[in-house]
Amino acid sequence: MNKPSILVARPVFPEVIERLQQFFEVDSNQNNEAWSKAELIGKLQGKVGVFTTGGDRMDAEVLTACADLKICANMAVGYNNFDLPAMTARGVLGTNTPDVLTETTADFGFALMMATARRMTESEHFLRAGLWTEWRYDMFAGADIHGATLGILGMGRIGQGIARRGAHGFGMQVIYHNRSHLDAATEAECKARWVSKEELLKSADHLVLVLPYSAQSHHAIGGAELAQMKPTATLVNIARGGIVDDVALAAALRNKTIAAAGLDVFEGEPKLHPDLLNVPNVVLTPHIASSSLPTRLAMANLAADNLIGFLTQGNALTPLNPEVLLKK
Ligand code: DGY
Repeated sequence: MNKPSILVARPVFPEVIERLQQFFEVDSNQNNEAWSKAELIGKLQGKVGVFTTGGDRMDAEVLTACADLKICANMAVGYNNFDLPAMTARGVLGTNTPDVLTETTADFGFALMMATARRMTESEHFLRAGLWTEWRYDMFAGADIHGATLGILGMGRIGQGIARRGAHGFGMQVIYHNRSHLDAATEAECKARWVSKEELLKSADHLVLVLPYSAQSHHAIGGAELAQMKPTATLVNIARGGIVDDVALAAALRNKTIAAAGLDVFEGEPKLHPDLLNVPNVVLTPHIASSSLPTRLAMANLAADNLIGFLTQGNALTPLNPEVLLKK
């Protein structure tokens, strides 16, 4: 019997490709060719499933042009690259990879906050440039983490992981803003207190963004919000590009409206706004918050499990639109 055909749109661990090949004819972009939308549509003809990463847009145009497609399995917890209503309307299942990356991503968020507050990359550049000639009392003096107020915007699983690290490991006062309040037990476990967005901006010494991207969260942090923060504050974005207005942020860093920023995600990435490359008080990383080897492998395997489960047995571990499963 012919195996169903799937497309793996980006390079992924060879062992995951081998697993998929046990069940499917796999067309895989292991060379990371840059496909236009038309090329992606062409590649998807006759494919019943696609393995995507966060940069692969599965919108209504693609879905309409790919009538055989039954499942889009994202190797990411974020899925703003999916037009989920369009998928549901066409009976296409979307899946993501929650949970397996929570602790790794929280580790990174915390590390980026520490590197930013303590000016680690700025001072390393100084050292590498051969500029270190003497000890100075105020050399790269940054902000403390221990005992400081940690603000978290978006208090899902990753936000809670960062809160626990801050409260239990570093004696931080944790405040958060989220559409909904956490239940009392989770608040107690995270030692976190809900505050309004205004209060969060005003009181945080270190503000970490962990909210999903949507039309509502677009430019949630722009010039007006940055102006409400402390001039000594640090801003960290490990969520998605577009949540911060990068032009406004570069201006705020240049003008010292805030002290520093740590950014793992950017508007229009992998391109960066050039102003961000020209300000010293920013730590920049290329969207790697979930990138430990075990976690990336777990994410890839979960995306593969979703493809295998759905296409061979009609179920998936982490469906985004489970109503599609119910209709099968
Ligand atoms: C995620 O899982 O959403 C990460 O940002 C990787 O894309």
